[in-house]
Amino acid sequence: MADKALTKIVLGDRDIPTRWYNIIADLKTPPAPVLHPGTGQPIGPADLAPLFPMELIKQEVSQERWIEIPDQVRDVYRLWRPSPLFRARRLEKALGTPARIYYKYEGVSPAGSHKPNTAIAQAYYNKQEKVARISTETGAGQWGSAIALASQMFGLQCKVYMVKVSYQQKPYRRVMMETWGAQVVASPSPDTQAGKQILEKDPDSTGSLGIAISEAVEDAATRDDTKYSLGSVLNHVLMHQTVIGQEAKKQLEKFDDEADVVIGCAGGGSNFAGLAFPFAADKLTGKKKKLRIIAVEPSACPSLTKGVYTYDFGDTVGMTPLVKMHTLGHGFIPAPLHAGGLRYHGMAPLVCKLYDEKVIEAVAVPQLATFQAAIEFARSEGIIPAPESAHAIRVAIDEALRCKKEGKKQAIVFNLSGHGNFDMGAYEAYLAGKLTDYEYPAEKIAEALRGIPQVKA
Ligand SMILES: Cc1ncc(COP(=O)(O)O)c(C=O)c1O
Repeated sequence: MADKALTKIVLGDRDIPTRWYNIIADLKTPPAPVLHPGTGQPIGPADLAPLFPMELIKQEVSQERWIEIPDQVRDVYRLWRPSPLFRARRLEKALGTPARIYYKYEGVSPAGSHKPNTAIAQAYYNKQEKVARISTETGAGQWGSAIALASQMFGLQCKVYMVKVSYQQKPYRRVMMETWGAQVVASPSPDTQAGKQILEKDPDSTGSLGIAISEAVEDAATRDDTKYSLGSVLNHVLMHQTVIGQEAKKQLEKFDDEADVVIGCAGGGSNFAGLAFPFAADKLTGKKKKLRIIAVEPSACPSLTKGVYTYDFGDTVGMTPLVKMHTLGHGFIPAPLHAGGLRYHGMAPLVCKLYDEKVIEAVAVPQLATFQAAIEFARSEGIIPAPESAHAIRVAIDEALRCKKEGKKQAIVFNLSGHGNFDMGAYEAYLAGKLTDYEYPAEKIAEALRGIPQVKA
C-alpha cells in the first residue's frame, strides 16, 4: 500500500508519453460514421480538407491503437508535462474517509488547463502543412488561451472569436490571448457574414458558442491560408488528451496503488476521455472488469443523462457534419452556468458510445453543490479549481463519502482539468449567496429535441 507521507508523484521529462492512445482500436464495433449535413451520406477526407490539415483528418478516422507523438510536440509538452498526480490527503482527512483520493492536476499548463495538450498538437500539424493562420471560437476563454499559446509556439497567426458576453466579463482571458499574439474579437463580429447577419437582426446580441463556431468555420472556409481548430468532441482531440491517463497510470504505480473509480467532468468530453480512456482500455480488454469510470455533467446541461443518442449537428446553426451522440438538440440554449466549458448541447461521440455500451457511467450535478465541493477542495488542498473541474470534485467527494458509509478503502482518481484563477467572478457570486441551481425543465429539453434532424442511421 501507498507510502504514508507521499503527497505527489512528479515524473521526469523522459516519462512524457511517446504515443497517444486511440481507443477506437479496442472497441468491439466501429464508431458510427459522420454524415454530410446536406446529403446525409458518410463524409470523406475531402469534405473535411477545407477545415483541417490532412494529418488530423487521418487521425480522426485512424484504427491504429497507438499514434506516435512528434518530437516537436513533446518538446513543447516538456514546458509543463508530465503533470503531477496528487494524493488529496488533506481532503481525505477533512472528509474522514477511508478512501484514497488522487487528482491529476492539468492546471499546471501555461494556459491553466488540459486544453494545450491538443492545441499544441493541432498547431504543429497545421504548421507542417504550411497553414499560416488558425481560426477558432472560445466561450469562457480556456480553449482560446490554449490555441493562442500553441499558435505562438509554432509561429502561426491566430484569430479567436470570443463569445461577446465572456469578452466583456473576462477581459483578462482576452489579454492572455493577446499576450500570446492572438487577435481576439467579440462574437458576433462584423468580420464574417454569419456575424453580420446576427448583428443586423440584433445589434446587442451577447453571442453564443454556436454563433462563434459559425464565424470561425466561415473564416477558415473562406480563406486559403487558414484552417479551423476545435478544442473538444472530435476523436483526434480526445486522443491527444490521453497523455493525461497514461501518465496517471504510471504515477499510480509509483504510489503502489490501483484505481477503483476514475472521474472526469464532461463538457465536450476531452479531459474526461484524456484521463479515462487509458483506464477504459483495461476494462475493454477484460483486465480490470470492476473499474468504475464516471463522467460528470451539470444538471443545467445534461446531455448524457437526459439527452437522446442520435445524429445531430455539432453547432447551433447547423453548418457542421452530423455526428451520432447524446444530444439535447442543437437548438438547446443552456442556462448561464458559471462552468462555461460544460455548456454544450452534445458530447464526444466516443464518450457516448462507451456510455451506450455501459463501459462508463454518467451523473449530473447541480451548480451549488459543485461550488460547495470546490470550496471544500480549495480549503483543504489549496488549489482553487475551475468551475468545470469542480464537477469532478463533487463526485469524487460523494464517492469518498460513500466509501466512508460502506467502510470501503477504494482508490478514487479524478481529473483536476484546470485552475479557477480567472473565475473569481463566479466564486464571488457563490460566496455572496448569489448563485442558484438550475435544473433544465423537461419541456424545454423536449422542445429542443424536436429540432433534431431526422437521419436514417
Ligand atoms: C478547465 C476545463 N475543464 C473542462 C472543460 C470541458 O471541456 P472538455 O469536456 O472538452 O474537457 C473545459 C472547457 O473549456 C475547461 O476549461
